[in-house]
Amino acid sequence: MCKVYSVSNQKGGVSKTATCVNLGIGLARAGKKVCLIEAYAQSSLTESLGFRQPDELDVTLGTVLGMVINEEDIPEDFGIIHHPEDVDLLPGNTELAGMEVSLVNVMSRETILRQYIESIRDRYDVIIIDCTPSLGMLTINALASADALIIPVLPAYLPAKGLEQLLMTISKVRRQLNRRLMIKGILLTMVDKRTNNAKEIISLIHETYGEHINIFRETIPFSVRAAEASAEGVSIYSHDPRGKVAKAYENLTKEVLGDD
Ligand SMILES: Nc1ncnc2c1ncn2[C@@H]1O[C@H](COP(=O)(O)OP(=O)(O)OP(=O)(O)O)[C@@H](O)[C@H]1O
Ligand SMILES: [Mg+2]
Repeated sequence: MCKVYSVSNQKGGVSKTATCVNLGIGLARAGKKVCLIEAYAQSSLTESLGFRQPDELDVTLGTVLGMVINEEDIPEDFGIIHHPEDVDLLPGNTELAGMEVSLVNVMSRETILRQYIESIRDRYDVIIIDCTPSLGMLTINALASADALIIPVLPAYLPAKGLEQLLMTISKVRRQLNRRLMIKGILLTMVDKRTNNAKEIISLIHETYGEHINIFRETIPFSVRAAEASAEGVSIYSHDPRGKVAKAYENLTKEVLGDD
């Protein structure tokens, strides 16, 4: 049974991409067959996995979505590239910016990505979609495709406030497009536990949402090592295996697998 996760938050720079990489590779290290999907025209996921010239790739998510729209057959593994740390990637590039616009005029525009994912889901244990920092068509497609969401949030006032808008969109998607959509958890990222402000906002998030929404026990610490790993095109387990971020993502992986 394949699980499809979407890592979403319309706020930018909250560790969505870093979480896709390190949770995805964490799950692969735990023996799962994992596919990561880049649903962002800026190709951060593709570049974080070391593919530096995304615009030179022949096939990306934009290509396969175009094929779904035109009702063309998609060959097995079409466009999928393999990362040395044992995850597959369907990359993205600037072609997706055009897709965001052209989807608007397409029949079943909210479920084009879902149609593609349904066609590959029997080949994986886990599929993780990296979303754009917006609530545009590609994000709606990701929400319509997912079984569950992982929502990274910074422990700071405004980012935490932005959660309300995201939760409203999730409820609407649940009512109109994807009744099975669950929230796997809110993940606190780039946490500096030494500051009182972070501690206060973390308790506030627990008070406000904790009763109805899972908040992962593990939090991801702020560390320049995490940024270095994406620049190197590898996971935190390769870049700094004994560091605190690797440990945190390892624990998050266990929490997601439910065998902690
Ligand atoms: N735990 C961390 N500690 C410090 N820096 C981090 C951490 N996680 C990610 N970063 C860095 O912070 C920046 C933003 O992270 P990331 O790209 O994962 O966020 P994002 O939510 O995907 O952003 P966007 O909304 O632009 O897609 C990147 O430069 C990344 O390398
Ligand atoms: Mg990103």
